[in-house]
Amino acid sequence: MKEATKIFDRLVQERRSVRIYDQEAPFDDEAVQRSIERAVLAPNSSNMQLWEFYRVKSDEAKKQVAWMCMNQKAAKTARELVVVVARRDLWRKRQKVLVQEMKRVYPDAKSKQAQRAMNYYRNLIPKYYWSDWFDLWGFLKKCIYFFVGLKRPMVRHGNRTDIRISVHKSAALAAQNFMMSMKAEGYDTCPMEGMDSLRIKRFLRLPRKAEIVMVIGCGPSAEGGIYSERFRIPNEEVIFRV
Ligand SMILES: Cc1cc2nc3c(=O)[nH]c(=O)nc-3n(C[C@H](O)[C@H](O)[C@H](O)COP(=O)(O)O)c2cc1C
Repeated sequence: MKEATKIFDRLVQERRSVRIYDQEAPFDDEAVQRSIERAVLAPNSSNMQLWEFYRVKSDEAKKQVAWMCMNQKAAKTARELVVVVARRDLWRKRQKVLVQEMKRVYPDAKSKQAQRAMNYYRNLIPKYYWSDWFDLWGFLKKCIYFFVGLKRPMVRHGNRTDIRISVHKSAALAAQNFMMSMKAEGYDTCPMEGMDSLRIKRFLRLPRKAEIVMVIGCGPSAEGGIYSERFRIPNEEVIFRV
């Protein structure tokens, strides 16, 4: 096995959801910053990066957010909490940045690649992310996809729920990067969706369309921080060769 494979395998095997954190062990909170910076390198839909990460560090803020995480031990004892937020609403802002980026990457505006990239970010992205109050545009897109899909493969996601799922998928991949990085830094994590997302949103002063993906507790594990042996469904039941 290659060295990198061995290291990666060890990290994957050793990462566990830790529910109790040590309050005394040294904790380098710069590891959290470094890990978030690695998190944002995760693959994400159209490179729109519709995510944000909020570091909850002060005792008072942690206490409040832990309460909003139903006072779970993984939150109450965490040395820091990181809130991963899906920001579907920031699509226009990201689109503008990406159009500029495409201009930089493809200085020859007439080249095929440049035109394709510009068309993607200028025309297709708004069609995908824009939605009206009743999501009629989303419904119409689904209908179009259905009829086009009768003849050839066609993307099927187009309504508001589909877009929300897409943004959450990307943010969840970033969250996994974050947790793996924390493990590599020598710390543990626990992702949590058992929380009052509405209260957390208000606490972070986020707009209505922002959505909490998960709250991640982190720090050095305390003894007994892992509740049970790891259990997974047998591989034969979940891995298929086609
Ligand atoms: C999206 C998501 C939400 C989760 N929510 C919670 C939670 O609210 N509280 C908790 O203790 N663990 C939570 N977990 C952790 C899972 O229970 C844990 O990953 C699973 O039992 C497998 O254990 P392992 O992570 O140690 O391999 C969550 C995990 C994910 C991915």
